[in-house]
This record gives sequence, C-alpha cells and structure tokens, in this order.
Amino acid sequence: MLRRLHPEQPDSFAFTPDNQKWAAAQMKKFPEGRQASAIIPLLWRAQEQEGWLSRPAIEHIAEMLDMAYIRALEVASFYFMFQLQPVGSVAHIQVCGTLSCMICGAEDLIGVCQEKIADQPHALSADGKFSWEEVECLGSCANAPMAQIGKDYYEDLTAERLGEIIDELAAGKVPVPGPQNGRYASEPLKGLTSLRSSDSGKTQYNASAQAAVDIGDTVKRIDGSEVPLLTPWVKDGTGQAAPKKTPKKAAAAPKAKAAKPKAAAKPKTDAAPAATAEKKPRTMSAPRKAGADDLKLISGVGPKLEALLNELGFWHFDQIAKWTDAEVAWVDNRLKFKGRITRDNWMQQAKDLAGKS
Ligand code: FES
Repeated sequence: MLRRLHPEQPDSFAFTPDNQKWAAAQMKKFPEGRQASAIIPLLWRAQEQEGWLSRPAIEHIAEMLDMAYIRALEVASFYFMFQLQPVGSVAHIQVCGTLSCMICGAEDLIGVCQEKIADQPHALSADGKFSWEEVECLGSCANAPMAQIGKDYYEDLTAERLGEIIDELAAGKVPVPGPQNGRYASEPLKGLTSLRSSDSGKTQYNASAQAAVDIGDTVKRIDGSEVPLLTPWVKDGTGQAAPKKTPKKAAAAPKAKAAKPKAAAKPKTDAAPAATAEKKPRTMSAPRKAGADDLKLISGVGPKLEALLNELGFWHFDQIAKWTDAEVAWVDNRLKFKGRITRDNWMQQAKDLAGKS
C-alpha cells in the first residue's frame, strides 16, 4: 500500500501552547545531538491534536528536531499508525481484523462501518464526522471482536452495538469504552473462576475504561490540557528548560570522583572529537554565482543547520568535502549538537554530492 501525503494540505501547523511545552520536554529526554529520537512522540502528539499528519505538521516537527524534512516524512509514512489523510471530525474507527477478532465477527463490524460511514477505508463519511480502517491485532484478543475508537478500546462488540456506538458518537455522546457485553475486564463472561480475592472491581469500570471516563479524552483532540504535564527528567519538572547553570553538579561532586568517569568515557566511538585541536576552514562570504548548493541533501542537515552553515561561510558541497579533522572540530564547536559531522559522515556525503552536481 502506497502511503503518500494527502493532495489537500492546510497552510500551516502549530502545536497548542500546552502541547508545545509537552513536546519541548520530550526532546529533553535524549542526549544532546540525539533530539531526532523524539520524532515518533512528537508526530504522535501532532496527530492527537489534529487527527492526522499534514505536510506542514511533519515539516514543523522536522524543524523542531533539526532534521531534514525527508527523514521526518520517512518516519511518518513508514508507520501505519500515522494517518496521512484527514480523519472523521468526531472519530476514526479502527476495527481489528486479525484472527481472534475475525473469528468472532470482525467482518460484521467492518460491514457496519461500510454501511454507516463509507464503503472504502480512510474515506470520510458524507457528513465528515467519521472514518474507519481495518487494522492488525490491537492486543485485546481476549475481548474479541473489538475496535479502537479515538484513544480507547471498545471490546466484546456486536455489529448492533457498534452501530449504536456510532450513532451515540454522532449525537455528541461518548459511550463508555471497555467490554460492551457486561464483562468487567477479560474474565469469563459468567464471572471469575479463580483469583476471586483479587482487587478488581474496586472502581466502577476496569482500570483502562475508568481512566478514559475520568479523563474524558476518548475522542477528544488533545490540546495538552487534559492531564498535568509531568516531566521528572526535567529539573523543574514542568517541561520548561532546565537551568543552564551546569557547574552546580560538578561542584557538588567530589573532584576525584568527577575526574574518573571522564577518563573512562573517552574511548566512546561516537563522542565529539573534542580532543582535536581546531582550525578554521576556508570560508566564503557568499555563494558562487551559480548559487548555493542545497546542503539539506546531506543526511543530518536540516533547514536550521543549513542556515547556520551558510552563516559560518559554507555554501557548497566541495567546501565541506575538504574539511580536515581540525576543521571538523572548528565547525563542530559551533554547532548546537556536537558530534553529528563525523556521526553522519558529512565529508563523504558532501564528496558524493559534489561529484553529482
Ligand atoms: S486479534 Fe483482535 S485484538 Fe488481537
């Protein structure tokens, strides 16, 4: 199945202020220079906010993570969980069509979606409120057949019950997720036969369904205000930038102890080449008459890095291809995230690209 950007795209994308704070905090989970590791959670939050991933959203996130657009698009188009086309304004329904659910009636559920929403998956209903698709096992096989609607699972479904759920959603109600046949969780329909003294049953619904009811975000477009932002890995725990004064830590640690790990860390192969003496490469005040090369073609160089390289006086592949170790050290010391030049082998990439241009 080809997964491409939708032909109709919005003009722009921006995270809501709360989602922006959340996204900034996710980026702090990773070491300097590895912020691209936050690509999946950020794409996911953009989808939770908008319902689907538009081109402006993918580009916005690529810029936040200092990635080339194509690398962000590769991730977005690879994973089927990312919707590359608009979904229903009320809900997108994902019907599990794998073995357990198929045996227990998934085809009937798909029939309901075709009848009530659209004949084809990923198409919007006539009123634009719903869309649907068949997905692989969602891990709720003991409650087959099931469907994920928005963020939550509706389990032990029948065709009739799924039809009712769609009608209720269309009327602005949100039916309680979880088993739809009276079961509390995934125990036998006639009740527990063992572990009868377990703690289950303390809340009105099972834990997942109860959380869904309490938070009320089943089919809500997520703006970041639903739950408090908890970011224990960020110093102040709010997702705001941690204080920049790093010497505190070093001062608190005994000097002798602080020195040892540094010596042990040296052999790491992907560490920045800090030990190399730096030498300023030959730079240019402007590109040649034929125009600057598109430095974003170098894997690892995004729009922000390209702008920085231009600012430093690098406009062409052949300039980068000639950097020596000392010159790499000079450039590296001027990048926000160090070590990426050697990690992504910019010089070889630039050499190859210079040969093609
Ligand atoms: S087969 Fe449907 S949830 Fe596993």
